[in-house]
Amino acid sequence: MKFFIDTANLEQIREAYDLGVLDGVTTNPSLMAKEGIKGRDAVMKHYVDICEIAQGGDVSAEVISTDFAGIIREGEELAELHPQIVVKVPMIKDGVKAIRYFSKKGIRTNCTLVFSAGQALLAAKAGASYVSPFLGRLDDVSTDGLALIEQIVLIYDNYGMGTEVLAASIRHPMHIIKCAELGADVATCPLQPILDLLKHPLTDSGLAKFLSDAAKTA
Ligand code: E4P
Repeated sequence: MKFFIDTANLEQIREAYDLGVLDGVTTNPSLMAKEGIKGRDAVMKHYVDICEIAQGGDVSAEVISTDFAGIIREGEELAELHPQIVVKVPMIKDGVKAIRYFSKKGIRTNCTLVFSAGQALLAAKAGASYVSPFLGRLDDVSTDGLALIEQIVLIYDNYGMGTEVLAASIRHPMHIIKCAELGADVATCPLQPILDLLKHPLTDSGLAKFLSDAAKTA
């Protein structure tokens, strides 16, 4: 399973890459706003900065248009910015049409805001490179987000669909582990859940004992 970091914070992206386990980055307009990025030029430059840190990994950059012509215009501009850019398109009618258009032109896409298996099926049929089911947001409304990941993986496997399942809106390390068990292709999450995977009290106490015993042999 690939690990993507879900942030537009350059320091956190650098820290995650330094760990050596990162495969890409996802962003969205809320994450860009959180970093105080303002104005089209600044937004475009920020995407390029992220691509340069991301060491060849895919970087999802989201369109903000909701009509077909606007999505195409924005998506083509984003795709031209850097070869690592994957155009993130919302799961709406014009979005699905745009994904089909981009797919025919060889522009890679990430279909975002997916909350049902039917939506995931449409995204794959349209030729999306990635589909992003938001599992944490489903959990937030008392619906089983992981069950959706399982359902999409099964459907795509049934038909050998090439779209990669990018589990998004991940909130904690168990989400990551369960996604790996279910066969998600990618998990995207903030830095903290990735760092939380490191932790185990027996590792800490075991290391403390080894170090104190090593001191006896020094
Ligand atoms: C996906 O690509 C989104 O950027 C993201 O995972 C949404 O996560 P959130 O529900 O924590 O905002």
